[in-house]
Amino acid sequence: MSSDRVIELLRKAYSDEIETVMNYQTNAIVLDGVRAEEIKESLQQDIQEELGHSEQLGQRLKQLGARPPGSAEFTARQDSLQPPEDSTDVLSVIRGVLDAENDAIQTYRDLINAAEDADDPVTEDLAVTILADEESHRTEFRGFEKEYQNG
Ligand SMILES: [Fe+2]
Ligand SMILES: [Fe+2]
Repeated sequence: MSSDRVIELLRKAYSDEIETVMNYQTNAIVLDGVRAEEIKESLQQDIQEELGHSEQLGQRLKQLGARPPGSAEFTARQDSLQPPEDSTDVLSVIRGVLDAENDAIQTYRDLINAAEDADDPVTEDLAVTILADEESHRTEFRGFEKEYQNG
């Protein structure tokens, strides 16, 4: 019933969520300074949400007779979200987060379309729910970007 494209996108989204968790956590630890506190807290909160997304995607893969990838199949893609050389460079992390969130938004939009084409409303519904979370993360970090580039 479900298409190869749906499975492929679910697996891609799963990997991206795991990479996001790794980079958000690393940046939340690496960043220094009073100005970074608010960003670190926000990242820590998002880590829990992204982890929850990966779990939901993995369970959906299982329901469809597939499985989420392990680390041997993993390819890192988040170049702009690597911890900055300068640990007080909050803006670099904010921009990396915006890239990751925009990328996630595109993947969930693709998944919504693929699930609709495959007549898979359950996956479509899951993708819509997660998409709303990613849009809200992006809104939050767009606000931070404004605040920090003027500071
Ligand atoms: Fe997510
Ligand atoms: Fe997110």
